Amino acid sequence: MTDEAANVFADPTAYADEPRLHAAMAHLRAHNPVAYVDKAPYRPFYAITKHADIMDIERDHNLWLSEPRPVLVTAVADDFAKSQLDSGAGLRTLIHMDDPHHKKVRTIGQDWFRPKALRDLQIQVDALAKRYVDKMAEIGPECDFVEDIAVHFPLYVIMSLLGLPEEDFPRMHQLTQEMFGADDKEYQRGTTVEERMATLLDFFDYFSKLTASRRANPTGDLASAIANGRIDGEPLSDVDTASYYVIVASAGHDTTKDAISGGLRALIENPGELDRLRHEPDLIGTAVEEMIRWTTPVKEFMRTAAADTTVRGVPIAAGESVYLAYTSGNRDEEIFDDPFTFDVGRFPNKHLAFGYGVHFCLGAALARMEMRSLFSELIPRLGSIEFAGEPELAATVFVGGLKHLPIRYSLR
Ligand code: HEM
Repeated sequence: MTDEAANVFADPTAYADEPRLHAAMAHLRAHNPVAYVDKAPYRPFYAITKHADIMDIERDHNLWLSEPRPVLVTAVADDFAKSQLDSGAGLRTLIHMDDPHHKKVRTIGQDWFRPKALRDLQIQVDALAKRYVDKMAEIGPECDFVEDIAVHFPLYVIMSLLGLPEEDFPRMHQLTQEMFGADDKEYQRGTTVEERMATLLDFFDYFSKLTASRRANPTGDLASAIANGRIDGEPLSDVDTASYYVIVASAGHDTTKDAISGGLRALIENPGELDRLRHEPDLIGTAVEEMIRWTTPVKEFMRTAAADTTVRGVPIAAGESVYLAYTSGNRDEEIFDDPFTFDVGRFPNKHLAFGYGVHFCLGAALARMEMRSLFSELIPRLGSIEFAGEPELAATVFVGGLKHLPIRYSLR
């Protein structure tokens, strides 16, 4: 069934207009939860807006494949990426893969994100959180919280984990913005497929040098683990190695930046919830979870049917794709009480912001730890806080959130 409302998913500007996006999604959840979308420049897909359906699809990973269409990109970009892959130069990250290969590749980096490894990292992350809150105090009483703070903290954490030198962090940040923000004028390198591809080639160029250096001299960091990773006794291919770095380096910070800045915005817009958190610091765990649900930085992933099937009675043929609307699932009134209320004590909170199933976010525990650390440092030191200008969202269909959050504040 076609439905005008579902066209929002294929319109990058809708992602920068939350009331419009949420109104369309609420309509779809109620009236057309498996909506057919056929809107250029994208290939057709079905938009899945109910929480339960998104989970069912992600659970059945043998029926619903990530390949060949893991995220929504234009048909031209899709074809170009495929031709690059066929020629041995494309991007094939964990999110592009299916089992059994996916499982083997995921294992290579997995230990770095387990609770034990993260416990060892806690002191370092806490020190960094303090460094960035100190910086806020120094540059106050006004700043652009996104540009001055939220971007840098998670970038610093993931780059340090990888083992990259600090002078390269700005370059990684710029390339990530170009990749995830490819639809947004402020972030994109250009509008042609070749310009988008150039970003990827820059990533690959940087990381192939890194691979060579870590293979020659392993240094015990995550980059060395990836460079020296083996599958069935064989070294990872060049494409798989470079792609691994790209996914960790990019997914590891832009998403967290969006959750941090959107989380602070929600606290400013809901001063009662900020007060609650001030008086009950033990709520930090549920508060962070609510910030992640509220912002849902990853807007979508896609899956393609391996065989003819149905979703909620709607027939979907083998080879057709579904768009998993995480933002919609996370406001599903059948799952969440008062889904449009920001509640720092919300429990349970079965949000889908980290996905579900075999592709469940590899860095979820790290992201949570970073956010707990930053807000636990910030909130007790915060006096007043208000907007000093309009918050501005990025117009991107994949990973997105605030581009600018001008604030005025006092900090101890
Ligand atoms: C996968 C969200 C932070 C690394 C994913 C997925 C989502 C997601 C939705 C796909 C799950 C699925 O298909 O079911 C987020 C959000 C974050 C965040 C909202 C922050 C608030 C991080 C961090 C890292 C990371 C800090 C650090 C390395 C990855 C990787 C994958 C992934 C490697 C691919 C996993 C796979 O396909 O097996 N993330 N992520 N993410 N994320 Fe995150």
